[in-house]
Amino acid sequence: MKIVVIGAQWGDEGKGKIVDYLANEAQIIVRYSGGANAGHTIVIGNEEYALHLIPSGILYPDKIVILGAGMVIDPVALFSEIKMLDDRGIDTGGRVLISDRAHLVLPRYIQIDKERDLARKKPIGTTGRGIGITYSMKSEREGIRLADLSWTEKLEELESADRDFLAPYTERLKAMSVDLSSYLVHHRNSQVLFEGAQGTLLDLDLGTYPYVSSGMSSAAGAAIGGCVGPRALDKVLGVFKAYSTRVGNGPFPSEFDHDSEDELCRFVRDMGREYGVTTGRPRRCGYLDLVALRYACLTNSIDSLVMTHLDVYNSLEEIKACVAYRINGSMVETFPASIEALNKAEPVLRSFPGWKKPLDTSLVYEEFPVHAMEYIEFIERFCETPIHIVSVGYDRKATIIRKSPWTK
Ligand code: GDP
Ligand code: IMO
Ligand code: MG
Repeated sequence: MKIVVIGAQWGDEGKGKIVDYLANEAQIIVRYSGGANAGHTIVIGNEEYALHLIPSGILYPDKIVILGAGMVIDPVALFSEIKMLDDRGIDTGGRVLISDRAHLVLPRYIQIDKERDLARKKPIGTTGRGIGITYSMKSEREGIRLADLSWTEKLEELESADRDFLAPYTERLKAMSVDLSSYLVHHRNSQVLFEGAQGTLLDLDLGTYPYVSSGMSSAAGAAIGGCVGPRALDKVLGVFKAYSTRVGNGPFPSEFDHDSEDELCRFVRDMGREYGVTTGRPRRCGYLDLVALRYACLTNSIDSLVMTHLDVYNSLEEIKACVAYRINGSMVETFPASIEALNKAEPVLRSFPGWKKPLDTSLVYEEFPVHAMEYIEFIERFCETPIHIVSVGYDRKATIIRKSPWTK
C-alpha cells in the first residue's frame, strides 16, 4: 500500500510523529516536498529528534528513506543532519537515498532568500533556508539537480563559487542518488509512506498565497515529488492539531485575539510547546479552523484525518472552534482565495464543553471522555471525513488508533 501523510493546516501539525509511528509497518519512506525549512519532531521516551530533510522513518534500523524529486536539498544541512543521527547511534549508512531529480540549494540562494524577505514591504517571514529562491531557479530552468553532478560538462557551466561549494559533497551525493521512479517500480510490493512537509495552507497553489512556502505540500505533490502517478497512491491522511498554529506572517482568521484571549494563547503555547523546530520562533496560536480543515479535506482527497495535540485541551472548561467566517457582514463557509478577504474574516465560533481530565495513552477510543468524543465527532461530521488516529501526547506511544491506515 502507498499512503500519503500531509499537513492539513499551516505546518507543524505533528506529521513527523505520525510518519514515524506509521513507518513501523512500511519499508520505504519518501519525503516529497520542501527542504530544510521543515522541522519534524519525533519523541521516543527521553530521546527527541528534530529532522529537517531526512524522512521520519530513519529512526528504525531497517527502513529505506528517500528524499524525493520535489525536494530542495541543502548539502550542508543534509550532511550535518546525517552526522547528528550517526553521532546519536542511528546508523544511516546505505539507507538514505536521494532522487536524481531533486534540486540543490546553494549558499547564495540562502543569502538572497534572507535579503529579499527583509526587503519586502510585507515580509513573508521565511525560514531563511533558500527555499523560495531554489524553487524559482527550478522554474527559471536554471537550477542544479543531483543528476547534474555526474556530468563534467554540466559542472563546467557553473559559476566557480558554486562549483567549489559543491566539490566536497559531490561524491557522497552521487553515492546516494537514485532513479526514484524505477526504484519504486522495482519495490512495487513494498509498503511506502509519502511524507509531506509544510501543510495545505502553505502550499504554493492551494495555500494563503503569497504567504506560503514554494513547494507542493499538498497530496498532489506526493505524486510529482515522489515520481509516481496519482493512481499509484492508495490513501491520503491529513494531520491536524486540535487547535491551529502558524509561524511567519499571513492571514490567520481564527487566531486568538490578543486583547481578550492572551491567557489562552499563552496556555496553548506553553502546553503545546509551540515554538518552531527550525527557527525557534514562537508559533501564532488560534482556535481550530474547521472551514480551512474542510477545504484541506476537499483539495487533498483526504481519506482519513489524524488529530494531534488533543491533550493540550485536557484541562479547559470550554473549547471553541471556527465554523464559518463573517466577511464584510456576510457569512462565508468556504475558504477564500483572497488574502484581503481572509484578513477581514472574523471567526464564527461554536462552543464545546471541555472534558477536564487527562487522556491516558492506554485508552481505547471508546473509553474517551464523552465531551472529547463529541468534539472529535463534530469535526468528522463537519469535514465529512473520519478521524482514525488521535494523538494525545508527543511521545511515539501516545497514539490512539481507531483504524489502522494499513488495513484496507
Ligand atoms: P511537523 O512539522 O508536522 O512534523 O510537526 P513539528 O514537529 O514541527 O511540531 C509538532 C510538535 O508537537 C512537536 O514538538 C511534537 O513533539 C509535538 N507533538 C506531536 N503530537 C503531539 C500531541 O499529540 N500532543 C502534544 N502535546 N504534542 C505533540
Ligand atoms: P513543517 O514541515 C511551519 C513557513 C515559514 C514562512 C513560510 C515561507 O515543519 O510543517 P519558506 O522558508 O518555506 O520560504 O517560508 O512558510 N514554513 C513553515 N511553517 N512548518 C513548516 O514546515 C514550514 N515550512 C515553512 O514560517 O511563513
Ligand atoms: Mg514542523
